[in-house]
Amino acid sequence: MSGFSADWLALREPYDLTAMNPAVRDAAIASIAGLDPVAIVDLGTGTASGLRALAPLIPARQTWRLVDNDLSLLARAADTERPARVQVSAVPVDLALDLEAALDGAVDLVTTTALLDLVSAPWLERLTVECAARRLPFYATLSYDGRIEFTPRDAGDAAIVAAVNAHQRTDKGFGPALGPKAAAEAIVRFTTVGYFVDRQPADWVLGPHDREIQNELLAGWASAAREIGAPELDDVVAWLTRRRDLVAAGRSSMRVGHIDVFARPTEMRRADRSQSNSTSPSRR
Ligand SMILES: C[S@@+](CC[C@H](N)C(=O)[O-])C[C@H]1O[C@@H](n2cnc3c(N)ncnc32)[C@H](O)[C@@H]1O
Repeated sequence: MSGFSADWLALREPYDLTAMNPAVRDAAIASIAGLDPVAIVDLGTGTASGLRALAPLIPARQTWRLVDNDLSLLARAADTERPARVQVSAVPVDLALDLEAALDGAVDLVTTTALLDLVSAPWLERLTVECAARRLPFYATLSYDGRIEFTPRDAGDAAIVAAVNAHQRTDKGFGPALGPKAAAEAIVRFTTVGYFVDRQPADWVLGPHDREIQNELLAGWASAAREIGAPELDDVVAWLTRRRDLVAAGRSSMRVGHIDVFARPTEMRRADRSQSNSTSPSRR
């Protein structure tokens, strides 16, 4: 178990799909144009929402390597509905321990959705080095960036958001997490190794009718604040009650900030389909 329930991932998926930045997504798809078949690795795949978002937009035959350390989510990912031209393999890997195994073999594009803010600075460095060594393009969507805006505002919002962002920096299995800094760090690191990097906002915009996801988020943020230990428990409970009342009354809206990043090496290699792509021939 990873702590990410299939129910939560299913609840957020349509909001992720709406939020994904189309320009960044199109740049990622363009990077594999002309390849058929194309080999894609999805890191921290969950139930394969990344595949469901991207695969229909890619006309080529595709092989997706779906990587996660949660066997229950991975089983659902392997069973996901997909176009006939799409093949999947579900690969149970603890990415904190064995990132390199996830990337070995034929790969044309590395993707990940809502994972980057969980990882640590040293792990992101490893990822950057491994991608750069293989000259692989990297597409990371829905990295939380620390912005939560509530309408209407409440006097307790700022303290809760501060606690949530502190909680985001705690260890999520990869060492102290980058949390809200993750996308910015990825941009710096990939730029440093000579990649072109596109980045655009991909915010969740939740309206008064989006009651279920708003209530889930509020409960999660209150729990995070309790774990951090600030604000005081009474204040957290009072804030949660006021905000839930607004949701129930159909008067609550929220914007949750995310960033999409696509990093492309200046020169890419075509995946060698028999061996590691570190020895593959030039792609263009
Ligand atoms: C926020 S969920 C995102 C899931 C999916 N990409 C999506 O957007 O619906 C993070 C995912 O990363 C996976 N994950 C977390 N730590 C991991 C690790 N050390 N190794 C492999 N997967 C991990 C979780 O199991 C979970 O599926």
